[in-house]
Amino acid sequence: MSVACVEFKPGLEGVPATQSSISYVDGQKGILEYRGINIEELAKKSSFLETSYLLIWGRLPDKEELESFEDEILHNRRIKYRIRDMMKCFPETGHPMDALQTSAAALGLFYSRRALDSQEYIRIAVVKLLANIPTMVAAFELMRKGNDPIKPRDDLDYAANFLYMLNEREPDPLAAKVFDVCLTLHAEHTINASTFSAMVTASTLTDPYGVIASAVGTLAGPLHGGANEDVISMLSKIGTVENVRPYLEKCFETKAKIMGFGHRVYKVKDPRATILQRLVVELFEKFGYDKYYEIALEIEKVVEEKLGHKGVYPNVDFYSGLVYRKLGIPSDLFTPVFAIARVAGWLAHWKEQLEANRIFRPTQIYSGEHNINYTPIHER
Ligand code: ACO
Repeated sequence: MSVACVEFKPGLEGVPATQSSISYVDGQKGILEYRGINIEELAKKSSFLETSYLLIWGRLPDKEELESFEDEILHNRRIKYRIRDMMKCFPETGHPMDALQTSAAALGLFYSRRALDSQEYIRIAVVKLLANIPTMVAAFELMRKGNDPIKPRDDLDYAANFLYMLNEREPDPLAAKVFDVCLTLHAEHTINASTFSAMVTASTLTDPYGVIASAVGTLAGPLHGGANEDVISMLSKIGTVENVRPYLEKCFETKAKIMGFGHRVYKVKDPRATILQRLVVELFEKFGYDKYYEIALEIEKVVEEKLGHKGVYPNVDFYSGLVYRKLGIPSDLFTPVFAIARVAGWLAHWKEQLEANRIFRPTQIYSGEHNINYTPIHER
């Protein structure tokens, strides 16, 4: 093994890939900050759109700036009829993340100027993406059920309007508030796989719609954003609190990963999981408990007992599925909902990348052979 091989870090674990002032994670203490502000504080006091402004523009907006940002997003929520028509042709059996990736990329067909040196182009891209992505997710959901998508409602805020477009009825104010907090919690998380993917794509100076489409594709995998969907399927397979221990014992024996647990950075419980768990309880107190919560608590207890020493604790995906289920969101939309929120973080990193861009071009350690002669096909 060469010296270079010793330095190779699979998954780039611990290798800094950028300098960033967008967010900060302390994985030992369980701290997450956006632009220096603790996530607990933002979850309590801010809104998703205000937090998006903070992430993307680097500071909290004043009253006028926030109103104008919210107003612009509100007036850009409708998707172009050609995109809607294109989405109608998607197979209803297709995964909503694939539908979202394709639709986000399609936005680039309409706004592909790539005027990356224009602050106005950047501002419009931010608005279009934040405003259109939720409408696309809701539209695909209705269309795959054979219904026409419904128009956004101007009297509803960002979170309430999404739940309205999805469920075709105005949400309860607590449900809308909880959903807004979920979006805030998922808006950004340093250089994870999808954000890194967004940065690599951004570094080629392609358009922001391609950047977001690339990040959506990366978020879709079960080791990243797709885990919350698998958590619900695990809860359903387990079925009762009594089945938790035998089910997990089998996972421990076979070294199968338990979905919603473990994190490359957090070695304690993810602070977002703690907040989400509180939200689950708030929702259940108002709308009724479901047995999955008891099962989830038991899973957390057993996994902590067995894997706590390895730093394996609930991550953001463990409780988010329970919240989304209670809000009437189907499980295969959990990851698209994650994407709705994470667009804010991806855009912040896109903008930061442009401010000090150098194309990503890492190196590799070649492990193949040299000087091999070509063998003609009849001699192989
Ligand atoms: N279940 C069981 N054991 C686990 C889990 C888990 N979910 N996560 C980590 N471990 C164990 C590993 O087996 C390993 O044990 P070992 O040292 O005895 O081999 C040790 O903890 C370290 O784990 P790694 O897999 O090396 O951690 P890595 O940083 O590479 O992976 C990841 C992190 C991908 C999140 C992993 O924990 C995982 O697969 N979790 C399940 C999927 C999941 O919930 N993903 C969502 C993450 S949050 C997000 O992306 C939004």
